[in-house]
Amino acid sequence: MTARHDPDTTASATEADRRDLIARMTLAEKASLMSGANFWNTKAVERLGIPSMMLTDGPHGLRKQGGAADHLGLNASIPATCFPTAATLANSWDVALLERVGAALGAEAAAEDVSVVLGPGLNLKRNPLGGRSFEYFSEDPQVSGKLAGAFIRGIQSSGVGASMKHFAVNSQETHRMSIDEIVDERALHELYLEGFRIAVAEGDPWTVMSSYNKINGVYANENQDVLIGILRERWGYEGLVVTDWGGNNDRVAGLLAGNALEMPSTDGVTDAEIVAAVEAGTLDEAVLDARVAEVLALVERTRRPAGTPAPTVDHESAHELAVEAARQAIVLLANPTGVLPLGPSAGRIAVIGDFAETPRYQGAGSSLVNPTRVDAPLAALRASGLDVVGYESGFTRRDSAARGRQRRALELAAKADTVLLFLGLDESAEAEAVDRQHLRLAQNQLDLADAVLALGKRVVVILAGGAPVELPFADRVDAIVHGYLAGQGGGRAVADVLTGAVNPSGKLAETYPLAYADVPSAAAFGRTEATSEHRESLYLGYRYYDKTGTDVRYPFGHGLSYTTFAYTDLEADAERAGVTVTNTGDRVGAEIVQVYVEAPDAAADAFRAARELRGFAKVRLEAGASARVEIELAEHAFDVFDTDLGDWRTVPGAYRVLVGASSRDFRLDATVTVEGEPWAGATPADLPRYRSGRVADVDAAEFERLLGRPLPSPTWPVGAPLTRADIIAQTRGRGGFAGFLHGLIESAYTVLMRLGRPHAANNTRFALDMPFRSLPRLSGGKFDEAMLDGFLLMVNGRFWRGVRDLIRAARRRRRDPR
Ligand code: BGC
Repeated sequence: MTARHDPDTTASATEADRRDLIARMTLAEKASLMSGANFWNTKAVERLGIPSMMLTDGPHGLRKQGGAADHLGLNASIPATCFPTAATLANSWDVALLERVGAALGAEAAAEDVSVVLGPGLNLKRNPLGGRSFEYFSEDPQVSGKLAGAFIRGIQSSGVGASMKHFAVNSQETHRMSIDEIVDERALHELYLEGFRIAVAEGDPWTVMSSYNKINGVYANENQDVLIGILRERWGYEGLVVTDWGGNNDRVAGLLAGNALEMPSTDGVTDAEIVAAVEAGTLDEAVLDARVAEVLALVERTRRPAGTPAPTVDHESAHELAVEAARQAIVLLANPTGVLPLGPSAGRIAVIGDFAETPRYQGAGSSLVNPTRVDAPLAALRASGLDVVGYESGFTRRDSAARGRQRRALELAAKADTVLLFLGLDESAEAEAVDRQHLRLAQNQLDLADAVLALGKRVVVILAGGAPVELPFADRVDAIVHGYLAGQGGGRAVADVLTGAVNPSGKLAETYPLAYADVPSAAAFGRTEATSEHRESLYLGYRYYDKTGTDVRYPFGHGLSYTTFAYTDLEADAERAGVTVTNTGDRVGAEIVQVYVEAPDAAADAFRAARELRGFAKVRLEAGASARVEIELAEHAFDVFDTDLGDWRTVPGAYRVLVGASSRDFRLDATVTVEGEPWAGATPADLPRYRSGRVADVDAAEFERLLGRPLPSPTWPVGAPLTRADIIAQTRGRGGFAGFLHGLIESAYTVLMRLGRPHAANNTRFALDMPFRSLPRLSGGKFDEAMLDGFLLMVNGRFWRGVRDLIRAARRRRRDPR
């Protein structure tokens, strides 16, 4: 942060000044701006008054590290407000709330002299096992894009840049630094890119973070089709593209695709590559100048005006906002016997479940916030005036049989009239760099639930966790409240919803399937080596379940209230839908009104989802009050991405516009006729499963026909020598030193898990997924390219030769560190 607030170092404000500044820079200075100075800061060019900027995680709170730096949530960061994670905030469907939370996060960042907050993350939730689902908004691009756009506006209102990430198609954690995400063009545009497009249009993020993965064969960070053709040319984006941490493969290729900043520091290794390329004439210096201009523009945008003091943060009011955000986001999934809200008839209340006392309120990895405080549900319930007769943890966090705990919990339950049972996913279940292995809650929790239910008491389940789980007890309990990962104020918010002090108004931004096997991408997700084939194409989440008529546990958009709402007087045209909503119950409440559009041929045999969300609004109404709700329909509400045209096309016909309270609870509908050129592409004769939506069993041949090209090999080449771009996991199954290395990392995982250190254990996954090329870049100068050559010989079966080369290179390095 050296020169950032020095009035004498004011950077130029106009494009001409910027050009002049670039003209005064040496080639080495320009190249130096293309990568970090350290883990979180960019480089300064003190001679020219160009300051360093700090970029810091993460999406739901500030993770500014003062001491040891890492991007895995290992080392401490300064205390900051931990807001609900994106998956939770999304359940509020409240654009204004997201903007407020973004602004509060931006204010904390500004107060800490942070220039860019690395978020929001808005990848689509392709599969509920995705390890970072808790950090992403939705399975639907409208919800993701609108909410992310608002969040970005909020952050940037404080003069701090947002970083929209991870662009794009970062659909899984397994092998995230190398996986090739194979997606057809329609799914790419209509789903995976659409949320990002909306977020750019509505939020104009100052930075975009490219993802680690490849998209159709090319690393996202080098993908000119995506980063230039789509992001810049189609969407008009003018900001800066930064790599994900360690996500640069070929520095020059990244520059050519419009990436201006590689993070973190590579100790000058890749800056030298840029200089060499310009000197050799393989990189036009004008390309470098354009990237430098983007860095300078970001410096100017984020620089606090000289003489202005850093804003201060009121952590108390930020905490209150965290509580309020959680209140808006909690979802009442079921309340069949009307047990909620808990009134005097609830009688004696037993609180059971470890999550009541030690809440789970965020996920693991780079987004891990060190909260300023944490409200636990148990304390809030005790303070609420309810007759809480006791608390028992009932189970251990790690899934081990804890008979004593279970027995004590059952004894307590026996004394109560109503049991509040707090269940959830534990800390190791949801983490960056690791996908979940199954959709179940821990067995010890399921056993406890069964045992409590056998007592015949009223049972309310309160869930914690940032992604769907199977809920085998759902039809046997009196109510289910989902707190998701509700941030540091979640405990109070949950208690408020249980007591009725707050009327729940959240709705699911993703589908809860009955069982994992129902998920269209279930068979192969997270199990492949080199590629991840998105064979289900457009049929993701509710688009699949509704097309195929599959029963689900809770549909997309579902969430109950303690009041009721009536919908009347729908009026719709191609631009908007208007409806009157009346609160017909006896208490104030908020309703999330959803507008879905059904294409004329969608129900028939056409390659279209049954219906798609095209607009939504949240409206708060006093008991008995009515409001007219006007909802603008999405830009591409009646369009498909026509792959022959290479562009969007409006498909003419009579569309049904359905308005309702969830994707399976429509209250009114209207017909809207849309003009346009007829489209022949709806019923491709050779794609029968794409027409029927039965995509869980699409074979390679049909997927190839959809893609229009042969599929690349899904497996790693057997026996081929490992190269710099290969990942350490590819040592698996090889003999000699390679196999030994793999075994060593796997054993570290097992040992760390046994020691009860799941976060550290998960990071062995990160190590396995790291490409060899990262070793010199991340070593801080201790391990150079020549040493890597030796190491690669060692893993490639020439162990002794490799050892010799490595030792020689290490000696050379010691003698001449540069
Ligand atoms: C994550 C990013 C994060 C970065 C810096 C990466 O591992 O994918 O989301 O912003 O680290 O911590």
